[in-house]
Amino acid sequence: MTERFSVSLEPELFEAFGQYLEKHGYRNRSEAVRDLIRRALIEEEWHSGRNVIGVLSLVYNHHQRTLQDRLTEIQHRFHDLVIASTHVHLDYDDCLEVVIVRGRSAKVRKMADELITQRGVKDGRLVISGTARPATEHSHRHHAGH
Ligand code: NI
Repeated sequence: MTERFSVSLEPELFEAFGQYLEKHGYRNRSEAVRDLIRRALIEEEWHSGRNVIGVLSLVYNHHQRTLQDRLTEIQHRFHDLVIASTHVHLDYDDCLEVVIVRGRSAKVRKMADELITQRGVKDGRLVISGTARPATEHSHRHHAGH
């Protein structure tokens, strides 16, 4: 069951929206509007809630193909949250990665969930350590690879 509603747009905005549909390969307007609304709601959720600092730890087998790349890609996507990360080679197979994060709690949890649920992560946990002011600057170190 879906609800329907109509939208009034100025001609310029309507035309720009048409170009947006084409550029992103939408077949119809409803599909595009749905995505835009969802994205706006997620964005709002991310920016709500208190600012927190936290420590995320991940244990994983670095022989798992593409896992390292996926973990790095996710951290870059949320780079504004990552203050620092440290990588320890535990033994022949396993790595421990510790990521210090700061940001809105919902967004921190979203990043942590994405990292922890990657296939090949044996153990992952996020420890939230209270509130923090929003990040004004940040630096991060890169894992040198294997
Ligand atoms: Ni390692």
